[in-house]
Amino acid sequence: MRVYSIFTASLFFFVTPSNVCAHDSHHHHHYSLNHDQTAQIDNPQPNIIFIMADDAGWNDFSFHGSGQIPTPNIDALALNGMILNNYYVSPLCTPTRGAIMTGKHPIHLGLQHYVVRGASSGGLPLSEKLLPQYLKELGYATHMIGKWHLGHSRQEFLPTERGFDSHFGYWLGKQDYYSHIIMDGKDRDGNWCWGYDFRSNRSVARDVFGQYSTDILTNEAMTIIESHPTKVPLFLMFNHMAPHSANFYEPLQAPAENIRKFSDSIDDENRRVYAAMVDKVDESVGLVVEALAKRGLLSNSIIIFKSDNGAAPDGYDLNYGSNWPLRGVKNTLWEGGTRVSSCIWSPLIQNRVSRDLMHAQDWLPTLYEAAGGDINVLKGIDGLSLWKTFTIGVPSPRITMLYNIDGPYNNSAIRDGPWKLIQGAGKSPTFDLGAGEWDYWHGESGEESGNSSKLIPQITSSKAGKALVSAGFKLNVTSMQQMQEDARVLCNRHKDEVIPCDPAQAPCLFHVDDDPCELWNVADKEQETVQRLLSMIADLNKTALPTMSRLRHPEGFPRNWGNVWTTWEDDFDARIASEVSSKSKVVTNTLLVYAMIVLILITCV
Ligand SMILES: *[C@@H]1O[C@H](CO)[C@@H](O)[C@H](O)[C@H]1NC(C)=O
Ligand SMILES: *[C@@H]1O[C@H](CO)[C@@H](O)[C@H](O)[C@H]1NC(C)=O
Ligand SMILES: *[C@@H]1O[C@H](CO)[C@@H](O)[C@H](O)[C@H]1NC(C)=O
Ligand SMILES: *[C@@H]1O[C@H](CO)[C@@H](O)[C@H](O)[C@H]1NC(C)=O
Ligand SMILES: *[C@@H]1O[C@H](CO)[C@@H](O)[C@H](O)[C@H]1NC(C)=O
Repeated sequence: MRVYSIFTASLFFFVTPSNVCAHDSHHHHHYSLNHDQTAQIDNPQPNIIFIMADDAGWNDFSFHGSGQIPTPNIDALALNGMILNNYYVSPLCTPTRGAIMTGKHPIHLGLQHYVVRGASSGGLPLSEKLLPQYLKELGYATHMIGKWHLGHSRQEFLPTERGFDSHFGYWLGKQDYYSHIIMDGKDRDGNWCWGYDFRSNRSVARDVFGQYSTDILTNEAMTIIESHPTKVPLFLMFNHMAPHSANFYEPLQAPAENIRKFSDSIDDENRRVYAAMVDKVDESVGLVVEALAKRGLLSNSIIIFKSDNGAAPDGYDLNYGSNWPLRGVKNTLWEGGTRVSSCIWSPLIQNRVSRDLMHAQDWLPTLYEAAGGDINVLKGIDGLSLWKTFTIGVPSPRITMLYNIDGPYNNSAIRDGPWKLIQGAGKSPTFDLGAGEWDYWHGESGEESGNSSKLIPQITSSKAGKALVSAGFKLNVTSMQQMQEDARVLCNRHKDEVIPCDPAQAPCLFHVDDDPCELWNVADKEQETVQRLLSMIADLNKTALPTMSRLRHPEGFPRNWGNVWTTWEDDFDARIASEVSSKSKVVTNTLLVYAMIVLILITCV
């Protein structure tokens, strides 16, 4: 808190007093059944609302069966839609986001190692065509809210230059939930590099200083939905800050009233604040679904809710989330880092728990097809469309899935059908981020809170539950309960003695269909499969691009740019250019004066 106040003081100049406590009193609507039904007739292309939580774990939503953190609004969507229980991402956010945007695996984007840093040069390659660009061609209005994290060193890397009509949010990976300052590493002298990072399109948005991240992002989502012309299909990408940890001086931040909700049910103080951060996201989902229903948009919408990678109950970006009973944490190739909570609701899709294999790179072709695009025009991507899997139950076309091949970490993992091979320990000569410390089962089971079947009444009375009913959808309690049970991952711990695995020593092999918790390393028994998967990795490795540099350039530090993280390469170039031209003016003027003196002297002599 002490550090926070120092920064509050230094950032005082950002604050316009009238805005410090501005709040969303206009968002307390009365629910109305007055739908604009013509919207569906005019607009056969579905609205796509893509909501992504940041670093939320497998066990942090009650649709996965734990009653510890009730998420009734998200569950209303999940249990009346499809729970994607075999959905994978990269273990870190920049690569996952790159895959979603391009339909390509991060090894084919140069994003397979680490994330874009505040003073990195570049980002998601400019040669790529992005999901909002594809959807714009199909007639969509495209809006983005929240985290970008795909590069900002030049304007051409920004969301508004890459297919989004608008962006309200931030460019880097995390920030303080209230001050929107991020401390992104230290300089050579050991001083933290900190700066403000919040934008309305390309302008610095100083007026949101002091307001809680989830609230301001949600208000913007509601404003977009309320003012959206219903004849135009809407693509809204809403990337939450929550429940990512904030800066080191106060990593967990949530409003007191949300924390209070968990005072009896959660003992661990940190987990309690974390639960409140998730609770705020759940409230946000309720408000968004309600706003869609009010505009009559719900019955022609696809709503996706998912995490970007596993939670960090330990290690890097520690946030007290839980991936239990999955193994590992964020920034590891275990299931806990890569197999994440995900669900999709739409009247267009089946209502069930899906075990179809899917990876982040598959969203682009899937949504392109849903939007009425012809997927045959998508050339050179890695993603596969699961739209027919969602709508009519065709088995997923994805059989093989590369988790990652990370050169500097010296680790890799691949899945082929039921088999998973994992090797390396996230350790390298240069970057030691854990080195096997996070290879275990971390995070709370929440078992003492009971299972989620008791939450059904909360689901039906949630904003999202009521909005679904108001739009004409029936909530079937029996089928919701069945889905809760079905969505649980069971480890079968009683079966056999665990066979340990140390991927730093030798590749491990798991039958992840039967052994989702990665307890029985069967590499010794299944040598042929090990060899086959190793050679698949080796082949894919040959197609990988060099990894983007994690180098930070001191020219990009906010102290050079009014304590704001900025498009420093453009501004740097502009500044250099103006310095050069003003220097050359001085030189020219000096030369002129000399020339005149010489002339005068010559004339006088
Ligand atoms: C962002 O830009 C779009 C398109 O120019 C504009 O409609 C919108 O009002 C802008 N948003 C803000 C918050 O300035
Ligand atoms: C990389 O990992 C492999 C095992 O996965 C190991 O044999 C090799 O020695 C490691 N290389 C370095 C440089 O640590
Ligand atoms: C969840 O709790 C309910 C009521 O206590 C019980 O009937 C049900 O079997 C439980 N489900 C699981 C999977 O434990
Ligand atoms: C509710 O779901 C159950 C289980 O899926 C099904 O058997 C039942 O027919 C459904 N009830 C209604 C009214 O649709
Ligand atoms: C991938 O290829 C690079 C050389 O291009 C090599 O250094 C590395 O060990 C390979 N990794 C794997 C997992 O095959």
